[in-house]
Amino acid sequence: MTRIVILTGAGISAESGLGTFRDKDGLWTKYDLEEVATPQGFRRNPALVHDFYNARRANCAAARPNAAHVALARLEAAMPDDVLIVTQNVDDLHRRAGSRNVLQMHGALMRATCHACRHTWPAPERMEPGDRCPACNKTATRPDVVWFGEVPYHLDEIGKALETASIFAAIGTSGQVWPAAGFAAAARQNGAHCVELNLEPSDATADFHDCRTGPATELVPHWVDELLAS
Ligand code: OAD
Repeated sequence: MTRIVILTGAGISAESGLGTFRDKDGLWTKYDLEEVATPQGFRRNPALVHDFYNARRANCAAARPNAAHVALARLEAAMPDDVLIVTQNVDDLHRRAGSRNVLQMHGALMRATCHACRHTWPAPERMEPGDRCPACNKTATRPDVVWFGEVPYHLDEIGKALETASIFAAIGTSGQVWPAAGFAAAARQNGAHCVELNLEPSDATADFHDCRTGPATELVPHWVDELLAS
């Protein structure tokens, strides 16, 4: 039974060199979300959307997990059945740091899917509009990421984990995107102790018992040490 549910967002990967979305210089200050992160945008201009995700996939491949990812993997290694990471991130840095119990609710940059037959496979370095699905041969391929207006993955499993958690932590997320923005309130209602670890108080900060501000690479290893000592 999951006791510790950890929600992560772009802020945990910021110190690995991956951009966040809403900070100064964030991705959504440079790109139009409607054009690159919605099904309508993809229908209008698939090449533009592929270029956006191809660039992000290349950044991700060049990035390394940081001390915050590594600390969460250490926590799971110490209590393997108790820890679940729910990440909004499409990068693979949690897995590369060694975490195994990870739900990627917004999908995975390193995976491709076919919207004709729903087959999924490892994404090539560059995806193009003319790519064919290896299962059904249709040119209906896309990055396996969840766009605005689509339903995030694993919501049933996440909902169950939020019911049993005694500790909920949110790390590096602005609390502006639903349903993830509501997870702290749900966990708290079910009796969990809620901790926020973020560069600054998020929009959801009132839902947490404990709000700690600073860079994830400092806050997270310290928090994990505290948990393991308690
Ligand atoms: P945001 O860019 O909205 O928020 C990032 C948060 O991380 C902010 O609150 C920052 O203050 C914080 N932060 C930045 N650097 C940090 C650091 N070094 N240590 C700790 N915190 C830091 O990113 P998300 O909340 O992840 O969805 O965004 C949620 C979703 O919105 C994303 O998954 C994506 C985006 O649109 C889709 O594309 C569907």
